[in-house]
Amino acid sequence: MILVTGGAGFIGGNFVLDWLTGSSEPVVNLDKLTYAGNLDTLVSLKGDARHTFVQGDIGDSALVGELLARHKPRAVINFAAESHVDRSIHGPEDFIQTNVLGTFRLLEAVRQYWSALTATDKDAFRFLHVSTDEVYGSLSKTDPAYEPNSPYSASKAASDHLVRAWHHTYGLPVVTTNCSNNYGPYHFPEKLIPLMIVNALAGKPLPVYGDGMQIRDWLYVKDHCSAIRRVLEAGRLGETYNVGGWNEKPNIDIVHTVCALLDELRPKAEGSQYATQITYVTDRPGHDRRYAIDARKLEAELGWKPAETFETGIRKTVQWYLDNPQWVANVQSGAYREWVGKQYGAER
Ligand code: NAD
Ligand code: DAU
Repeated sequence: MILVTGGAGFIGGNFVLDWLTGSSEPVVNLDKLTYAGNLDTLVSLKGDARHTFVQGDIGDSALVGELLARHKPRAVINFAAESHVDRSIHGPEDFIQTNVLGTFRLLEAVRQYWSALTATDKDAFRFLHVSTDEVYGSLSKTDPAYEPNSPYSASKAASDHLVRAWHHTYGLPVVTTNCSNNYGPYHFPEKLIPLMIVNALAGKPLPVYGDGMQIRDWLYVKDHCSAIRRVLEAGRLGETYNVGGWNEKPNIDIVHTVCALLDELRPKAEGSQYATQITYVTDRPGHDRRYAIDARKLEAELGWKPAETFETGIRKTVQWYLDNPQWVANVQSGAYREWVGKQYGAER
C-alpha cells in the first residue's frame, strides 16, 4: 500500500493511473480537490478496489494520522501543492498554507506513524517529496544556482528544506525529486501547453509573455512518473534527484510547434494557420529567463531514461486534447472560469 497526496492533479493523477497499470499494490489517494484537482482524471478507476480516494488536506493532521494508522502504507509520495506561478504572484497565501505549512504537518504526521513502526518496516519506509527545478532560479550558461524567485518556487524550496531537515534531524527516510516542466494528458489548461491548445481550438488569442524567448526544459509526464517510481525503488536516503529530459526550448518555439501540429491534425475550415492567433502580452513579473535540468545523477546512478522525445510526447499530447474535449470543458467550468475572468477578462 502506498499513500499518494495530490493524486487528482496533473502529475499525481498520471502517477496513480500508471502505478495501477503496472502494479497490484493498492493506492490511497489524498487530495483536497482544489480547482486543480479533478476526479474526471481518475474515472477509469471507478470501482477498482486497489484505489481508495479520500478528499482532504495534507495539513489536516488528524485525518492524515488516521489514514496512516488505518492503511499502514510502506511509502508516502507527496505531490500535493499549489503549482501555478501566476497564481502565486496574484495570491501567495495558499502557497504558503499548502506548500509550506501543509508539508510541515504532513511530515509531522508521517514521522509519528513511522516512529512507531517495527525496525524492519521503519527501514523499508519511504517519504518521497516531489519538487521542481524552479527552486534553482533563472540559470545562466555557467552558474548553477539555488535562487527560488517566485512565491511559488520560494514555497517549494521551503518544503524541500523541511523534508531535508526531517531526515537530517529525525532520521525520517526521505528522498526528493526536482523535476523540470512537465507536459502531457490531464494538464490543467492554465499552463502554457494545454492553454495554447485549448485557446487555439477556441479561436482565442495565444498569450505569449514578454518576448517569448524564456527557456523551459520539457519532460513528458509519464517519464516523470517512471523517474519517481525508480527513485522510490532505489534512491539513496536524504538525496535529491534532478529529473529532466534534456529538452530546453524557448516558449515561442513551443507555441509554434503546438500550432503546426494543430494545423496538421485539425486544420481550420477557412484555411488560416493557428499561429496567426499568437499575441505578445505583458511579461510575468520576475519571470525567470531559463530553467534547465542536469539529470546525470539519476541516469548514472539509477539507470533512468525518458521514453519519449519532445517530438513524440508533444504529438501525443496534442492528440490527447483533441480526443478529450469533455475533460477540458469539465475542468474549465465553475471556480476556474470565475478566477480567469477576474484576472484576465473574458477573452482568456
Ligand atoms: P496540480 O496543480 O495539477 O495538482 C496539485 C494537486 O494537489 C491537485 O489535485 C490539488 O487538488 C491537490 N492539492 C492542493 N492543495 C492540497 C492540499 N492542501 N491537500 C491535499 N491536496 C492538495 O499540480 P501538478 O502540476 O500535478 O504538480 C504536482 C507536484 O509536482 C507539485 O508538488 C509541483 O510543485 C510538482 N512539480 C510540477 C511540475 C510541473 O511541470 N507541473 C514540475 C515539477 C514539479
Ligand atoms: O519548471 C517546473 C515548473 O513548471 C513547475 O514547478 C510548476 O508547477 C509548473 O506550473 C511549471 O511552471 P512554469 O511557470 O514554467 O509553467 P507555465 O506553464 O505557467 O509557463 C511556462 C512558460 O510559458 C513560462 O516561461 C511562462 C510562459 N507562459 C505561460 C503562460 C501560462 C506564457 O508565455 N504564456 C502563458 O499564457
